[in-house]
Amino acid sequence: MVKLPVLVVVLCLLVSADSIAREFKLGLITPPSHVWTTSAESFGRSLEEATDGRLSLIVYPAQQLGNEAQILQQLQTGAVDMAFLTVAEVSNRVPDFGAFYAPYLVGDIAGAAEMLRSKEALALLEQLPEETGVFGIAYGMAGMRQILSRYPVSSAVDLKGRKIRITPFAPIRDFYESLGAAPTPMPLASVYDALANGQVDAIDMDMESIIKMKYHELADSVLLSDHMMFPMVGLVSARVWVRLDEADQNIIRELMTAELDQLVRKYVHEESEYLKELENTEVEILHVHPEFFGDAIEEWDALWREQSPALRDLRRVGRSLSPKAGTE
Ligand code: BEZ
Repeated sequence: MVKLPVLVVVLCLLVSADSIAREFKLGLITPPSHVWTTSAESFGRSLEEATDGRLSLIVYPAQQLGNEAQILQQLQTGAVDMAFLTVAEVSNRVPDFGAFYAPYLVGDIAGAAEMLRSKEALALLEQLPEETGVFGIAYGMAGMRQILSRYPVSSAVDLKGRKIRITPFAPIRDFYESLGAAPTPMPLASVYDALANGQVDAIDMDMESIIKMKYHELADSVLLSDHMMFPMVGLVSARVWVRLDEADQNIIRELMTAELDQLVRKYVHEESEYLKELENTEVEILHVHPEFFGDAIEEWDALWREQSPALRDLRRVGRSLSPKAGTE
């Protein structure tokens, strides 16, 4: 793991802050039509408006700057200024973030929104400059995770041995391994073809993507399980951050935070619309709850308790949230 604390401190001391004109690069993996991408573009417009065009942003969607691991590397070197990345990728570098993926950490998407605003969740961001050389500004999210399958599934036994596409990160892999499935890591960009050609039997995905990317047209059934939340994080390269004067840091922090907060509200608000759309498709819907997954949840906690000291705190926050916490 690359540690950059000394470098960050030295840059803080040596680099004279500047408030000159800047055109930032923001990378992300989602396609141009995805809400994360439109949200990044909206943040760029706000930045430009707030600074009369002095600060501007070019958004590079759809892995144009590489996959998330590569984008994170470029943030570390300062080749990329900003990114909206899955917390999944961050958890590959800082396992404490794996706590967000505790199965049924929250009861629903409103609870996920509330969790991301908690002081315990925000405290995790403080680890990022030292561990990864990036500043974490604020959380966004995609919807809760569901399981879309090419085959009928009526019990967890039906998932045994099945190849299930996962986002490439350890916490979700461990969950499906506990279920006896064959988790198959794959970036978002490869999912449609893999499902279409039978390379995988099922996919772990959020409802918005299932609808908007038309994955449901390739599947027989969906387990509406809400088994995990799926946070995203807005990041700025530490090398870039320390070169900005305080006023510009504040503008970026405020505008990115406001944009991501709006994104989170949008997901909470639109979840029921996506469900209605799904109900109007051919796909068979089975609503399932934690009991469906049997011992897999406790097994996951046993595995992650040591890797992620934050798990205890986030579980406590999760238990304190009412099922509809966070709805406004
Ligand atoms: C995924 O890997 O499933 C994913 C990544 C980014 C946004 C939505 C989904």
